[in-house]
Amino acid sequence: MENPGNFRLIVEALFIFCLVNLSLGFNPVDEFLLDCGSSRNRSLGDRQFVADNSNTSSYNLSTPQHIFANSSSNPISLYYDSSLYRTARIFNGPSDYSFPIKEQGRHLIRLHFFPFVYGKYNMSNAKFSVSAQNFSLTREPQSGNVSVVKEYSLNITSNRLVLSFIPDSVSFAFINALEVFSIPENIVPEEAKTIGRKDDKRSLRDVALETVARVDMGNSTVLPQNDTLWRLWVSDDEYLIDKNLGSFVSNVSAVNFTGGLVTEDIAPASVYGTATRFNLDDPNLNANLTWSFDVDPGLDYLVRLHFCDIVSNSSTQQGVFVEIFINTHSAGHLDLGSQTSHVLGAPYFMDVCTRAHDSRKLNVSVGSSNIINFPSVILNGLEIMKINNAAGGFDAPEVVSSRTSKIALIVGLTVGLFVFVVLAAVLILFCQRRRKPDPGNGGRNVHVAGNGTAIFFSSKIGYRFPFMALVEATDNFSENLVIGVGGFGKVYKGVLWDETEVAVKRGTPQSSQGLTEFRTEIEMLSQFRHRHLVSLIGYCDEHNEMIIIYEYMENGTLKNHLYGSSHPCLSWRQRLEICIGSAKGLHYLHTGSTNSIIHRDVKSANILLDKNFMAKVADFGLSKTGPDIDRTHVSTAVKGSFGYLDPEYLTTQQLTEKSDVYSFGVVLLEVLCGRPVIYPSLPREKVNLVDWALKSRSNGRLEDIVDPRLVGEIKPESLNKFWEITEKCLGKHGIYRPSMGDVLWNLESTLQLQRNEQKTAHDGELSSGISCGEHLETSSEFILAGSVSELAGVSMTTVFAQMLSEQTR
Ligand SMILES: *[C@@H]1O[C@H](CO)[C@@H](O)[C@H](O)[C@H]1NC(C)=O
Ligand SMILES: *[C@@H]1O[C@H](CO)[C@@H](O)[C@H](O)[C@H]1NC(C)=O
Ligand SMILES: *[C@@H]1O[C@H](CO)[C@@H](O)[C@H](O)[C@H]1NC(C)=O
Ligand SMILES: *[C@@H]1O[C@H](CO)[C@@H](O)[C@H](O)[C@H]1NC(C)=O
Ligand SMILES: *[C@@H]1O[C@H](CO)[C@@H](O)[C@H](O)[C@H]1NC(C)=O
Ligand SMILES: *[C@@H]1O[C@H](CO)[C@@H](O)[C@H](O)[C@H]1NC(C)=O
Ligand SMILES: *[C@@H]1O[C@H](CO)[C@@H](O)[C@H](O)[C@H]1NC(C)=O
Ligand SMILES: *[C@@H]1O[C@H](CO)[C@@H](O)[C@H](O)[C@H]1NC(C)=O
Ligand SMILES: *[C@@H]1O[C@H](CO)[C@@H](O)[C@H](O)[C@H]1NC(C)=O
Ligand SMILES: *[C@@H]1O[C@H](CO)[C@@H](O)[C@H](O)[C@H]1NC(C)=O
Ligand SMILES: *[C@@H]1O[C@H](CO)[C@@H](O)[C@H](O)[C@H]1NC(C)=O
Ligand SMILES: *[C@@H]1O[C@H](CO)[C@@H](O)[C@H](O)[C@H]1NC(C)=O
Repeated sequence: MENPGNFRLIVEALFIFCLVNLSLGFNPVDEFLLDCGSSRNRSLGDRQFVADNSNTSSYNLSTPQHIFANSSSNPISLYYDSSLYRTARIFNGPSDYSFPIKEQGRHLIRLHFFPFVYGKYNMSNAKFSVSAQNFSLTREPQSGNVSVVKEYSLNITSNRLVLSFIPDSVSFAFINALEVFSIPENIVPEEAKTIGRKDDKRSLRDVALETVARVDMGNSTVLPQNDTLWRLWVSDDEYLIDKNLGSFVSNVSAVNFTGGLVTEDIAPASVYGTATRFNLDDPNLNANLTWSFDVDPGLDYLVRLHFCDIVSNSSTQQGVFVEIFINTHSAGHLDLGSQTSHVLGAPYFMDVCTRAHDSRKLNVSVGSSNIINFPSVILNGLEIMKINNAAGGFDAPEVVSSRTSKIALIVGLTVGLFVFVVLAAVLILFCQRRRKPDPGNGGRNVHVAGNGTAIFFSSKIGYRFPFMALVEATDNFSENLVIGVGGFGKVYKGVLWDETEVAVKRGTPQSSQGLTEFRTEIEMLSQFRHRHLVSLIGYCDEHNEMIIIYEYMENGTLKNHLYGSSHPCLSWRQRLEICIGSAKGLHYLHTGSTNSIIHRDVKSANILLDKNFMAKVADFGLSKTGPDIDRTHVSTAVKGSFGYLDPEYLTTQQLTEKSDVYSFGVVLLEVLCGRPVIYPSLPREKVNLVDWALKSRSNGRLEDIVDPRLVGEIKPESLNKFWEITEKCLGKHGIYRPSMGDVLWNLESTLQLQRNEQKTAHDGELSSGISCGEHLETSSEFILAGSVSELAGVSMTTVFAQMLSEQTR
């Protein structure tokens, strides 16, 4: 790397250049250039680095103890002026530079490190980190005895920039030179196209960027002194993979900045004026030119490609056509001429955001497109910037993905089961001594959830997500991604860094009841995994947040597909399959483990549908483990949703699995009738679905209540069987209601009866174009009906399920 000959050449070139060109045209509003540890100001070209070993009023430095260091040896720096590296400032404790900012917006921060030995301080061994605003910029940047220059760009939205140097406890920090200055607005766009991710645009407004590579194609280096923003553009030859596929071209005079949107601040003419060109003579034309860069996996990168047609001339007009690939993803096709109104030599650049997944390499390739026979394929410049991670740093993330959470799940389940078994054993012993047997208990083991709620929560199952990861997944809880709103808070659609789609329920922190339900839900969901129960992906409780992350369910709630929306009408067969799925989920809850779980809030808004309309039961915020034997606890709170509540539970406050069966019966009625449980704008006798349905049946007019859109579709045998099971579920006394297992069995035979009769019928399940709202007067009444049940205050959890897609589509 260090080549004295080279160095002398560069210094000479610099010297000549400095004489020729005194100003490069860009004058930053904010500019702080410090030659740290120096007692003399140092002029480099048209810039003056201020000695910081003197009294200065342009910024403040707070530091407990610091030392000015100088070195006798001649430092060697390939690209930057090495006179900056003769001195350094050493910090023995956390120290802050505080710069007043006049112009808010993007600023460039450049940190120069050149370790040397000063007395007892061997800077090669210094251990420290540097942070700015809320971003942690770097840790131990220095390596060996060569200079390291770190460059960042931050959008500063306050009137002060605080740059902190934080040494590790027994170590120290140092810095040789420092640049902070504002850059023109057009340098970093507010958003950029993404590839390899579902959401199309990525906002860059609030991100910090770290320069990973800045390359001038055409085997030429552009020195900081020759760039309006003092950037270094290194030559591409060491990154180019298959060198004999490309040839280097240079034609700086062809670059024409007039009339374009691209200014010299984006990249200077010396960058646009050189290029690496795909070799046309090469018989192996069907290939790509590829440059390869080292990156950290799991982080996002902003890649900027610079193009300028310096190879065509006006007589041949062959043009530049390029296919662009980042790793193996296509980043699109570029017809440079049409982007630059066919002005030859007009610069153009494009930005793409991409994620380095498992790969430690980021490969940028350009290839020929098949549009015309002999296009020019060139690239003039390339910049790669690392985007800060969810924690506001630039280190590869400590893996937070659903892949690892699966491992965590296994561990969690093992730990969980163990705790469960021990706890259950203790409780059984305890209960057998203290209590008479519970009649509804059927001899199964019993576990009290009541005060035990914190057990799983505090045992850190491993689903815990950092808040910043969710900020990133939901684009900082963007309103555009809200898929549901309710009393509990909002539900956002999010995409995790491994591209898993998730629903993110963010609770509002006020209510203490919310916190209990938040915990219960995490506990319950983390214990069970079943095809027909919605999966927990994680949670976040940082900063008093109550956030639960679920698998994303494309089709929202069952409720929304039954009434009050424009979704296509569900066929009878689909409805039965959804009922069967939910019954399986509930049956598993009731019987799937030694301890039965009572859901307590079964309703159509808590049954979610995935992309194949497979049903999954959601919202375990009110769930209870086992028939509740803690009498005092039960008598304090009857919970559930208005209209679905088991009347027996209401009066006796005895909670059993049969309460879920009752609520499920109400859901079956909703499915059959396609109307809300409580519908206040109807005539009085019809307001309550259960009363109306039971009355109509006893008057022998069952057909009246069937969803008009299903009439003619349901076979009478199927209808009768369905009604029979629904009626049993709605029985006044729990002990006469069937178990979920019986319900499931009966629903399956209902479907069988329908199938037998339906052999000849069409298979197109989404019948006609009748939407779910059309047979009812206005949808505003549904909103009213919905809010009535919420305002009734019976259900404090406003389930994400209920909210899902109420606002979308
Ligand atoms: C360095 O320059 C600053 C302003 O540019 C000036 O205030 C200061 O006196 C100079 N210091 C020395 C040692 O010349
Ligand atoms: C800076 O100013 C203080 C007084 O305000 C003075 O005591 C000190 O010697 C000055 N330091 C230098 C390097 O000029
Ligand atoms: C430095 O700090 C003092 C006291 O906090 C403040 O009055 C002064 O304005 C600051 N100066 C700069 C340049 O920020
Ligand atoms: C460092 O600076 C001091 C004066 O500030 C000078 O006496 C000493 O010789 C310098 N050391 C080297 C190695 O340049
Ligand atoms: C400084 O530390 C580096 C890295 O540990 C080591 O290679 C070098 O010999 C040290 N220099 C001195 C003078 O101790
Ligand atoms: C840093 O974050 C805290 C809270 O997270 C916030 O209050 C503060 O304004 C942030 N500071 C800056 C400079 O953005
Ligand atoms: C830098 O370190 C290398 C060995 O790591 C050594 O050969 C070289 O002399 C050192 N250069 C300076 C200027 O100290
Ligand atoms: C900087 O952040 C502010 C506030 O988020 C935003 O309005 C502005 O557009 C951002 N500027 C840039 C250059 O991204
Ligand atoms: C690229 O530049 C380097 C140094 O300037 C030179 O040694 C090398 O031969 C050049 N490569 C080509 C293919 O021209
Ligand atoms: C700087 O760029 C100009 C063209 O803009 C070029 O003429 C000059 O040779 C370059 N100087 C250096 C030192 O690269
Ligand atoms: C540069 O482009 C403009 C149009 O944008 C054109 O009018 C002008 O003639 C061009 N200059 C040269 C030197 O080609
Ligand atoms: C260029 O690279 C991309 C991505 O690796 C690949 O899909 C494409 O087939 C390559 N093109 C040619 C002509 O090899």
